[in-house]
Amino acid sequence: MIHKCLFPVAGYGTRFLPATKSSPKEMLPVVNKPLIEYAAQEAVDAGLTRLGFVTGRGKRAIEDHFDMNYELEDQIRGTGKEDLIQPTRDLIEACEFSYTRQKEMKGLGHAILTGETLIGDEPFAVVLADDLCIADGDGVLMQMVKLFRQFRCSIVAVEEVPDDHIHQYGVVAGEPLKDGVYRITDMIEKPSKEEAPSNLGIIGRYILTPDIFDVLRETEPGKNGELQITDALKKQAQEGCVLAYRFKGRRFDCGSIDGFVDATNHCYEKFYKNGL
Ligand code: UTP
Repeated sequence: MIHKCLFPVAGYGTRFLPATKSSPKEMLPVVNKPLIEYAAQEAVDAGLTRLGFVTGRGKRAIEDHFDMNYELEDQIRGTGKEDLIQPTRDLIEACEFSYTRQKEMKGLGHAILTGETLIGDEPFAVVLADDLCIADGDGVLMQMVKLFRQFRCSIVAVEEVPDDHIHQYGVVAGEPLKDGVYRITDMIEKPSKEEAPSNLGIIGRYILTPDIFDVLRETEPGKNGELQITDALKKQAQEGCVLAYRFKGRRFDCGSIDGFVDATNHCYEKFYKNGL
C-alpha cells in the first residue's frame, strides 16, 4: 500500500560545520554507519523499497553510497571485511533509488514538493535522516505504516519536548483517539513557549497522502520565509484528518552536536560493543 519513502537531504547542515562544509550531514557516521543508511534501513524494514532523495549541491556522496563500488569489492573479496559491507549490499539489492535536486533551499515543505516527481499519486513516507530513531521491535516507520493501514490519513510522529526546546519544533494540539494517537486540531511551526499549544513536537517521520502536494502548492511561505510542511499539514487537518503519533522508541537529533554524541554512545552500547 505504501511503497515509497522520500528523504529530503538538501539542507546545508550548518549546525555541524565544519564537518558539513563539503560532505553531506546525512553521511556522518554513527559509529561506522552513515545516518542515511540507518534511515534507508528503517524504510526497508517497514516494507518501503522505492527510495527517493531530494538532494542538492554537494550531496553526491549519498548517491555513491547506494551504488556498487567494484574496485572496493574487488579489493576486499574473500576477506572478513566483506561482512562489514554485506548489510549495505543487501540494502542496495532490495531497493530502487531515484534522485531529484532542490535548486533553492526554500524549506522542508518545498523539498517535499520537489519530490512529487519521484512520488506521483500515492501515499508515501518522509524520513529526515538527521533524526535517528532506534526502537526495540518495530521501527518507528513500521509503527506508522501499521497505523496508516487503519486510518488512511497523513500521520506525523511526535514526542514530548521540554519547554526550553519547544521553539525548535512544529508543535501540535490534538484530541486523543487511542493510546498514543491524537487527531490534530492545531499546529504551529516553531512557537514560543507561551504560544505552544502542547508539549508534543513533530520529529522527522511522516506519512503523507498525495493531496499534500496540491496543499503545498497553495501554501504561502511561513516562518523564516520558508515553505513549511507544518502549515500544509494544518490545512489538511482542518479539511480532513491528520494524526499525531507518539512513537515507541528513542529519537536522537543528530543535526545537533549533543544529539549526535548521545546517538553514538547509545548505538555503540546497543549494537557494537559486544561485537554484535
Ligand atoms: P534542518 O533545518 O534540520 O536541516 O532541516 P539543515 O538545514 O540541513 O540543518 P541546519 O539547521 O543548517 O544545521 C530538516 C531536514 O529537511 C531538509 C534537511 O536536509 C534536513 O534533513 N531540508 C530542509 C531540505 O531538504 N531542504 C530545505 O530547503 C530545508
